[in-house]
Amino acid sequence: MTNSDAVAILGGTGALGFGLAKRLAAAGVPVVIGSRDAGRAADAAERLRADVPTADVRGLSNQDATAAAGRLVVLAVPLTSQVDTLKSIAEQLSEGDIVLDTTVPLAPAIGGRPTHVVGVWAGSAAQQAAANVPKGVTVVSGLHTLSAALLEDLSADLNQSTLICGNRKADKDHVAEVLGRIDGLHIVDAGMLDISRLVEGITPILVGINMRYKTHAGISITGLHDH
Ligand SMILES: NC(=O)c1ccc[n+]([C@@H]2O[C@H](COP(=O)([O-])OP(=O)(O)OC[C@H]3O[C@@H](n4cnc5c(N)ncnc54)[C@H](OP(=O)(O)O)[C@@H]3O)[C@@H](O)[C@H]2O)c1
Repeated sequence: MTNSDAVAILGGTGALGFGLAKRLAAAGVPVVIGSRDAGRAADAAERLRADVPTADVRGLSNQDATAAAGRLVVLAVPLTSQVDTLKSIAEQLSEGDIVLDTTVPLAPAIGGRPTHVVGVWAGSAAQQAAANVPKGVTVVSGLHTLSAALLEDLSADLNQSTLICGNRKADKDHVAEVLGRIDGLHIVDAGMLDISRLVEGITPILVGINMRYKTHAGISITGLHDH
């Protein structure tokens, strides 16, 4: 892949974003880690290079990371900063860009329990994202059921599925092509963006399973041949 195919990961200094950055970089995908603080992003890029010496990775402000990316911008920030982060990069997004929203509206965001979700007025976190991107930019949601800890541990076999939702098949195909480079991750098209409400609701079930079984559970869709 060339640098014009770089994937921006906003919130790439955090648990999910950093794990994803590591897995993509290890798969040879150029990555730009975004942060509210460019220095913090640069530090994260350096940490990543220490673990993956072949990584093509930079760390920039969320705005510069979005501008430097190809079509794909991953949003990996807490629910409470999802809308503000999207508004902060509106000028850097261009027509045809895809925002991959990973937000799970878990109740701890408002002081509740991690095994519960909160209702989002738009219907789902993904639909809330779609309502806050400029015209011509589309939202695909995914990665909700992936454990950040498992992603970050490159010695761990992922061997699981991730469900993606979106209203344009071509955009989902692009996301699947990029994420599909991660070893052991199977990308499954779960339908239109409004289905994301149901997918986002799987995470609190996994959180409960993780608490009971002391593990990092994921999901696997069976019966799909040639995927
Ligand atoms: N953790 C998981 O296993 C997991 C799995 C699936 C989905 N998700 C989803 O992925 C998103 C990120 O989760 P995470 O666990 O990676 O979160 P996190 O580590 O707490 O935060 C990720 C990054 O978001 C940025 N951020 C922006 N506004 C923030 C604020 N007000 N408070 C704290 N950080 C803020 C921070 O980057 P800067 O300070 O550098 O800007 C931070 O490093 C969430 O929406 C979550 O639902 C997480």
